Amino acid sequence: MKKIYFDNAATSFPKPDGVAEAVYDYIKFNGMNIGRGVYEKAFASAEGVYETREALCGLFNFSKPSNVIFTVNVTEALNMVIKGLLRPGDHVIVSSLEHNSVMRPLTQLLKSGVYFDRAPCDSEGNSFGVEELIRDNTKAVIFSHVSNVCGTIAPMEKIGEICKKHGLIFIADCAQSGGSVNVDMERMNIDVLCFTGHKSLLGPQGTGGFIIRDETVPLIEPLISGGTGSVSDLETVPDFLPDRFEAGTLNIAGIYGLKAGLEFIKRIGVDNIHRREMELTKRFLDGVRELGGCRIVGKKGVEGRTPVVSLDMEEDVSETAFRLDREYGIMTRVGMHCAPNAHRALGTFPKGTIRFSFGYFNTEEEIDAAVEALRKITNR
Ligand code: ALA
Repeated sequence: MKKIYFDNAATSFPKPDGVAEAVYDYIKFNGMNIGRGVYEKAFASAEGVYETREALCGLFNFSKPSNVIFTVNVTEALNMVIKGLLRPGDHVIVSSLEHNSVMRPLTQLLKSGVYFDRAPCDSEGNSFGVEELIRDNTKAVIFSHVSNVCGTIAPMEKIGEICKKHGLIFIADCAQSGGSVNVDMERMNIDVLCFTGHKSLLGPQGTGGFIIRDETVPLIEPLISGGTGSVSDLETVPDFLPDRFEAGTLNIAGIYGLKAGLEFIKRIGVDNIHRREMELTKRFLDGVRELGGCRIVGKKGVEGRTPVVSLDMEEDVSETAFRLDREYGIMTRVGMHCAPNAHRALGTFPKGTIRFSFGYFNTEEEIDAAVEALRKITNR
């Protein structure tokens, strides 16, 4: 049975040609640590890492590569930023669609006296009411750019403007947007942009990070500290970037793979990637709309969304996902998607949804096969 992969929101597959090769080549032919030895090969390794920082700045429209901090994933990045920034008595505003990579750190901080409010959203996942929630002690707004449950794109420019007007720190979780839709740190007035490498940035797992503005750096206490290979005569954390937030050896091989993913994105162009992904999404939405027994959760059309589509079904969604895989070779993700409140907000808690997330390498034939499989499963 031919396998069809529709779980790109969990991790993208396949990766473009060149990604696996870059990881292999680094390990096989270079493999040196960076920022430690003074031998030439170490400097050669460092060059590729720096070029990856530059590529991320190019993609997200930011001018300082040294302000790109690498972590192992977006969850680690968000934890570092949230737990490093917030102090007892601080208040933050989040969307109603946040992933647990934001909500679990925040609920951990409740016992330290950090509070949050959620901006409401409508049944399509459109958020509103951020400004009304601002209090005297509001420090930051943390917003998912794109919902990993329904694919709705948040109004980041508008939220950025609100943050600027009220002097709030704007933290953007771009796990589901980077590489799939345009993300512009300047235009959106983002202070800290958190990203992951293994989704639409098309890199390997174990890569991610955040990009931070200079003014925000002193506000964030580093959660992880240790050797950086710099100012090694001191036992205190360096105050310069990226060393302040990058203790220990990086996933250099993964970063080389991420660089290859970013080069592919640059070559094709984010707009072209988005256009292609939306063609596939439209075909799926059109097909599913004609079926009975399925309800598209969130936006019914392609405007204002990414290729992440959740369905509510008369059939049991877990059973459907299981049957899609075993009988039709179609891989999806079912349940809560680590975002329980998103399901509450969209009216699909506690049942959850079955989620189809498409990628640039999917095809029309694969979409048609999924619609046909759903038709058979729902007996329509
Ligand atoms: N957060 C990822 C997802 O939505 C893993 O599946």
